[in-house]
Amino acid sequence: MVSPQGIGRGMTNLPQTKIIVALDVPTFAAAKAWIDRLSDVIFWKVGLELFIADGQRVLNYLKEKQKRIFLDLKLHDIPNTVARACQVASSYEVDFLTVHTAGGKEMLRCAQEAISNSSTKLLAVTVLTSLTDRDLLDLKVSMSLPEYVIHLAKISQELGLAGVVCSPQELQSLRSMLTSHFLLVTPGIRFPGDAHQDQQRFSTPSQAFRNGADYIVVGRSVLQGANPEAIWANLCAEVR
Ligand code: C5P
Repeated sequence: MVSPQGIGRGMTNLPQTKIIVALDVPTFAAAKAWIDRLSDVIFWKVGLELFIADGQRVLNYLKEKQKRIFLDLKLHDIPNTVARACQVASSYEVDFLTVHTAGGKEMLRCAQEAISNSSTKLLAVTVLTSLTDRDLLDLKVSMSLPEYVIHLAKISQELGLAGVVCSPQELQSLRSMLTSHFLLVTPGIRFPGDAHQDQQRFSTPSQAFRNGADYIVVGRSVLQGANPEAIWANLCAEVR
């Protein structure tokens, strides 16, 4: 089995290592078709839909193809349950795994402890990029959305997590408040002229990197574009 740590070594300056493509498809066959078609993509994100459909098979195929893997399960449950799930997930040697900060400090602490002897890096989801200030008010969160994201990110850093998933709009403030090795991974990426769909807090790829993103996550803008190969090539050129 290929070590995911090893895949990145010597490749870390390639733009492809910083762009994660969301494999948001419903079957192993569809996932395999994209992995084969966009063969230059190094880092794939497997989310809930695909993981529930055929997770192990997809992860094994990505490993076989020596890809990096972001397992985006956004775990959120009682600490013991999440810790056990994290331990199993890390045994797949995925590069990134997500948990929700909303699960609380004890859940985050147990999750981090569960993966601490593995090569997996734990990322905390702060506030989903589909949410706005209005949604936080509905949930009776009195802090403003940017303040709340900073608050959750600081907790995640204090508890030893590797980084957070945040929107492009919070990158600058987070970068200035957190240590430089704390990873900022941002979805909500749209090209100029794209429909923003359900993403409410979004930016272009180059803006996101300029504002301090370590990694960006793109999904529909690539896979649902008219010419995914050309979009991918342009994206890499822009990031370079
Ligand atoms: O298609 P699009 O580029 O909007 O896809 C974004 C991807 O990033 C989706 O797979 C979504 O689940 C994920 N994501 C997100 N917001 C977060 C965390 C992950 O949009 N806060």
